[in-house]
Amino acid sequence: MALSCGNPTAIAGLKEGEIVLDLGSGAGFDCFLAAAKVGQAGRVIGVDMTPEMIEKARDIASKDDYANVEFRLGEIENLPLEDNSVDVVISNCVINLSANKARVFQEIYRVLKPHGRVAISDVALLKELPEKTRISLEAYVGCVAGAMLIDKYKEVVEASGVKDVKVTIQGSSICLDPDTKDPIGRAKLDSLEEGQSLHDYVVSACIEGTK
Ligand SMILES: C[S@@+](CC[C@H](N)C(=O)[O-])C[C@H]1O[C@@H](n2cnc3c(N)ncnc32)[C@H](O)[C@@H]1O
Repeated sequence: MALSCGNPTAIAGLKEGEIVLDLGSGAGFDCFLAAAKVGQAGRVIGVDMTPEMIEKARDIASKDDYANVEFRLGEIENLPLEDNSVDVVISNCVINLSANKARVFQEIYRVLKPHGRVAISDVALLKELPEKTRISLEAYVGCVAGAMLIDKYKEVVEASGVKDVKVTIQGSSICLDPDTKDPIGRAKLDSLEEGQSLHDYVVSACIEGTK
């Protein structure tokens, strides 16, 4: 149930008592890791737009007794949170899926407390994808076709007001069996010409900053 491209809780430097927001929390994997770090004095809020993922995450939280985690149905472009209400925003392989990334970072800025932090893992592009991959819906769903150019990423985050922005490449985000039968994996591989490799285009990036 974890469909990720990094480890935002490892880069977030979470402390006891902090309030953490996870954008596109899926089944809640990173929320549960964060919950252990912020302890009972802290709180973790996961937001996801897919009711089935919210239900799944709530089930796990209730079975495993995570009293300091909650999941809210909502869009990362319109966060169901108050202004200035969280210490840290994390996210793992989600922002590439948004059609309005500038708006997502404006929302992050709005909900962060002054001096709050951003620690995000996401997929980014080293260069423009070949046309066939760029227009493939499966490649979009597979977190490739919606990704931003890495050089543009810093610009978009800074435009939101977030300061001290650092965008670093963590490594390749692609780990595909060349014989995969998975339709999303196949679409990513089959959209490339002979001699092209997704490793030349797609990386896993770590985005940090403060309000
Ligand atoms: C690739 S999965 C990552 C899930 C989780 N972060 C993880 O690492 O396992 C993407 C998740 O983001 C959610 N998502 C995609 N676009 C979203 C949006 N605009 N607003 C809220 N959630 C979104 C999807 O429903 C899905 O659960």
